[in-house]
This record gives sequence, structure tokens and C-alpha cells, in this order.
Amino acid sequence: MASIKLRAVVALSGFALACAAQTGQTAAPMKKAAGGAKSAVAADFEKFRDIMAEASPAELFEAKGKELWHTKRGPKNASLEKCDMGLGPGKLKGAYVKLPRYFADAGQVMDAERRIVYCMVTLQGFKEKDLAKKPFSSASKTPDPVSLVTYVAGQSRGMKIAVPQKHAKEREAYKVGEEIFNYRAGPWDFSCATCHGHDGLRIRTQDLPNISKKEGAVAAFEGWPGYRMTGGRMHTLQWRLNDCFRQQRFPEPGYVSETLSDLLTYMGVNANGHVYKGPGIKR
Ligand code: HEC
Repeated sequence: MASIKLRAVVALSGFALACAAQTGQTAAPMKKAAGGAKSAVAADFEKFRDIMAEASPAELFEAKGKELWHTKRGPKNASLEKCDMGLGPGKLKGAYVKLPRYFADAGQVMDAERRIVYCMVTLQGFKEKDLAKKPFSSASKTPDPVSLVTYVAGQSRGMKIAVPQKHAKEREAYKVGEEIFNYRAGPWDFSCATCHGHDGLRIRTQDLPNISKKEGAVAAFEGWPGYRMTGGRMHTLQWRLNDCFRQQRFPEPGYVSETLSDLLTYMGVNANGHVYKGPGIKR
């Protein structure tokens, strides 16, 4: 794989730049970390994140999401209190770490954001096409589903990831997710696995988790939804995955589409058993 291409693909974040300057590290495109060790920048970031986590900006979005959850809104003037995230209407404790899962009412496997949008449409009367217009956080706006996912995720803090594989559709979602993960195409013949299917890969200063293995899948699940220091925005995994499709030069999947639920099932199941720390901070 030509490193020139990768250099073009990956925009170096402001934070990484600042760190590289601080540590005097020369930024090199995708390479193996020496002995599999974390980069100095990653280690620095972890220290910084620990300090930040004590007063995490993610909590502001959790609070906002809580308010949205309980407020009567939308054309049907209803709250989301009857929304079933998998454990029964309104039962949110531990729901996030068991998603994606199969929902009989929708006949589909849904991740947290997909399910929340489903509830906003069915209970509150919002239109999915309106929610899909500007689904990701920008400098001026954090879309409601982002705050809602953060609130719901916060209700699983300290619980074990346990994405189910009981229902045939859940097993199918895992298989399809795995296939999408390994599917090479596009102008550069990349797949997710090109960047996330090997140990110790790095693009410039960013460690790339090997999502095909438990440790990497945990890293990919952990900290999301996450407050991203770069740009100062709250993002969900739906955004993260879409941004990676963009980096891969693939067409971006539609908002809350099946493709994303499949990939999140693959990632989540690979991370099963690990304790989820709640919404976090990302660089
Ligand atoms: C060209 C390389 C490349 C490809 C291809 C790629 N990604 Fe990424 N991915 C990245 C980079 C760079 C990051 C950011 C790492 C960081 O900020 O530490 C990232 C981050 C992620 C994260 C968050 C990891 C974390 O530590 O929080 C997930 C999840 C992820 N990618 C999934 C995917 C999936 C699924 C695909 C396929 C649709 C994909 N990526 C394709 C480069 C890539």
C-alpha cells in the first residue's frame, strides 16, 4: 500500500499536530508501532484524558439528552418515556451495552441511535428524512439524537458489554458486519480491515485499533459516544463509522442504516465481556 495515498487520506487532527510538536515526534504515515507499544502521543493523550474525564464535557450532553428524553415534543407531543431500548419501555439501565439487538416491533437489528430515531418517529411523530438531513454535530448544532444516545449510554456506565447473538437476525447482522468490514473496494481498494484488521498499525500519530480482535474492538467501543477535542463536538459511533467510510473513499451509508447496525454488531460482539466506562472523550 502506497504511503502517499494514506497521507492524502488522513487529515491530521489539530490535537495530534500539537502533540507531535510537543514530543518532537516526526509524523510518519501508517507504520508499525515499535514492539506493539503505544505511541508516545497516545500515552500523553491518555494522561490528558484521565484529567479531563473528571469533569467530562460528555456529561453536559448526557444532561441535555435526559431533558429531551422526558420532554413532550414533536407532532405527537409525546416524550420518549415509552421508548423500548430492548429491556422494556423506559428501561434504560444497562440497555446500551446490549445494543445492537433484534427488535420484534421493527423486525430489525438496531443500534442505539437507530432505535432512538425509530422511537422519535413512532412515538413523537418526527420524520426520519428530516432527522437525516443534518445528523452529525457541527460547530453550531448538536442534533438531538446525539444527546439522546449520550444519555442512554450513560445509563450503562460500569456495566459489561453483552451484545446478544441469540436471535438468528443478530447472528446474521454479525456475519454481514464482518463481511462489510473485510470488503475491499473503492478507488484505493481499501476495506475497514486495511486500517483496522492488524495489530500495531498507526497513521501518523494515531494508533489504529485492530477491531477484529477483542482488545481493539473494546478500544473502538469504549469512549463513544465521545466528546471530540478536535473541534469540540459530541459524536456517536454512527458519525465515527461514516467518517471512516469517507476516509476509505466509499459512499457514506445512509443515516441509521442497516449497514451501520451490522458493523456495530460486529464490533460490539467482539468487545463483549468488557466493562463499559460510559460516554467519554476522544481526541
Ligand atoms: C484509511 C484508513 C482507515 C480506514 C479504511 C478505516 N478507518 Fe476507522 N479510523 C481511522 C483513523 C485514522 C481513525 C482515528 C483514530 C484516532 O483518532 O485515534 C479511525 C477510527 C475508527 C474508530 C474509532 C476508534 C477509537 O479508538 O475510538 C472506529 C470504530 C473505526 N475507525 C471503524 C472503522 C470502520 C468500521 C471502517 C470501515 C467502514 C473503518 N474504520 C475504515 C482510519 C481508517
